[in-house]
Amino acid sequence: MDRYLVFGHPVRHSKSPFIHTLFARQTQQELEYGLAEPAVDEFAQALRTFFDQGGKGCNVTVPFKEQAFTLVDRLSPRAKRAGAVNTIKLTDDGVLLGDNTDGAGLVADLKSHGVTLADSRILLLGAGGAARGALAPLLAELPSELVIANRTHTKAQQLAAEFHDLGPVTAQAYEQLAGPFDLVINSTSASLQGELPPLTPALIHTDIAIYDMMYGASDTAFISWAKQHGARQTMDGLGMLVEQAAEAFTVWRGIRPGTKQVLRELKRNLGVI
Ligand code: ATR
Repeated sequence: MDRYLVFGHPVRHSKSPFIHTLFARQTQQELEYGLAEPAVDEFAQALRTFFDQGGKGCNVTVPFKEQAFTLVDRLSPRAKRAGAVNTIKLTDDGVLLGDNTDGAGLVADLKSHGVTLADSRILLLGAGGAARGALAPLLAELPSELVIANRTHTKAQQLAAEFHDLGPVTAQAYEQLAGPFDLVINSTSASLQGELPPLTPALIHTDIAIYDMMYGASDTAFISWAKQHGARQTMDGLGMLVEQAAEAFTVWRGIRPGTKQVLRELKRNLGVI
């Protein structure tokens, strides 16, 4: 049977095996999908061993995405832009192809929630790996403006300069942000520590859409904060998780699974509904 898995550390709580097993059942593909948690300095060896032993493809998550970028034989254009790889496929001619489906997953999830990206003003919080992966796919949707704000402002400036050729992207310091924005995307890891990015509540209005790439069984700190200040449309990163997985599955198997039912099952599994 064709074998796939996700590499991460820690990875025990990953939902990817659950998601891909449901995709395989739905599309009647015969495959198995597991977990691998190599020591941080043993990822390269573990990756080689997996493919030497017949593995067909894998997902890569924290903290290995940047290292995976340097280990594959060939990169897709979107992985090159993202500077990170979250999906690897062994091609028929034996080449390890590195791809990145995170940004496509974000855009697909925003669209499935009915969020309009064309001509919109988007505020992206954070300038780390997650923000980098989102930039090209967001700019491809032709927003009228995309502003990056980051705690360390110089990193936002560097990122804006790097993606400037793709669209109207600028960097603004948190304390100088000028609204109104139609959509705020939180790509920071602040919610992981229950912290908030230093955003003024004045930017939150009833028609704004709020997206937190993090998720949990209950609202993230950022989503609670936005709701408290009047945001009516809030979304967490669970849908992005399922959509990036669907994109990876499509890369591997050439068949696109439906995501709605799988997202519902995942929510039930997490106790969200
Ligand atoms: P990831 O790959 O998830 O993006 P990362 O590359 O470590 O992780 O980036 C984390 C991002 O969250 C950074 O933009 C970081 O800001 P700095 O560049 O200033 O470090 C941001 N971040 C983390 N904790 C934060 C907090 N409490 N408030 C605001 N931003 C935070």
